[in-house]
Amino acid sequence: METFRQKHPGYGPLEVLLLPVPKGSAKFQKETLWASVPRYSRSSIESHRITLMSDLNSWAPNTEMCELGDSEIHVWRAYLDSQEAVLHRFETTLSSDEKARANRFHFPRDRNGFVAARGVLRELLAKYVGRGPRGLQFDYGPQGKPSLRANPEENSVQFNVSHSHGLALLAFARGRHLGVDVELIRPEFAVDEIADRYFSPEEAMELRGLPPSLRAEAFFLCWTRKEAYIKARGEGLHIPLGSFHVSLTPGQPERLESADSSRWSLYSLRPDPRYVGALVGEGGGWRVRYGEWKSDGS
Ligand SMILES: CC(C)(COP(=O)(O)OP(=O)(O)OC[C@H]1O[C@@H](n2cnc3c(N)ncnc32)[C@H](O)[C@@H]1OP(=O)(O)O)[C@@H](O)C(=O)NCCC(=O)NCCS
Repeated sequence: METFRQKHPGYGPLEVLLLPVPKGSAKFQKETLWASVPRYSRSSIESHRITLMSDLNSWAPNTEMCELGDSEIHVWRAYLDSQEAVLHRFETTLSSDEKARANRFHFPRDRNGFVAARGVLRELLAKYVGRGPRGLQFDYGPQGKPSLRANPEENSVQFNVSHSHGLALLAFARGRHLGVDVELIRPEFAVDEIADRYFSPEEAMELRGLPPSLRAEAFFLCWTRKEAYIKARGEGLHIPLGSFHVSLTPGQPERLESADSSRWSLYSLRPDPRYVGALVGEGGGWRVRYGEWKSDGS
């Protein structure tokens, strides 16, 4: 049977959430949780928030980031509003299945976003492995996670990609699993009903304890951290969302608590004041480097 996402390739999970929810779900949980919400001092949180906003990762064109050190993760920011000529260049690098997928998008904006994200991915991967973007082939895991089909002699470059409303983050490392997620902060999605349904009870409670002015950002910090962990493992929603927890208060250190948390490192990403992101890398001791992708390769 065709899944909802196959039928509507332009929909992300947040859009899927707008579909009708079964009656009565999460209502009881919501009311019982309210009783034990921890209270934070508003002034201390607001001061953390100011620190966070001034602490955007420093994204700049970086010509040195074509060599991937063994303990490095490279994260690239790419705005996907590509010019016609650049889109055309990307299209010539896509495989036939990618072109077919692009053509299934209903809205040109979604189609172009997909083409641009794949095009940037191929151009960056090509630099790392020293091959042309057109010659790269992808394999897909059981839940759809793409990986590079590597030559046996290559120390395989792992990657993960996320895009939201015109902005993509692309993460690369050697031989270790990665997950990355970015979301535009949209207050209309950051509502208690969705938190109750998708977050662990501890996370939903932490969210409710925050002043309303911080909730939208906190909601998406939680969402992106959970999603980055799921994406690093590549298992999609086969991982129960309540089986692990992340911290979400803006300005507080990022934290992952899962049965296998010693296997992973979690990093917050701030690619743009309107977006939040998260990165999960297998192992520890990473040096994370940030770059801005430019269509002219600078
Ligand atoms: C598909 C999924 C990877 C996320 O998709 P998304 O948030 O819409 O999209 P993103 O932009 O972050 O990531 C999409 C990219 O991840 C990669 N990807 C696809 N399947 C993946 C998987 N199973 N694991 C990791 N990465 C995957 C692909 O590169 C994909 O790019 P493409 O669509 O251009 O091919 C999956 O994790 C999902 O559907 N999750 C459910 C969402 C949810 O309910 N989250 C709850 C969080 S609290």
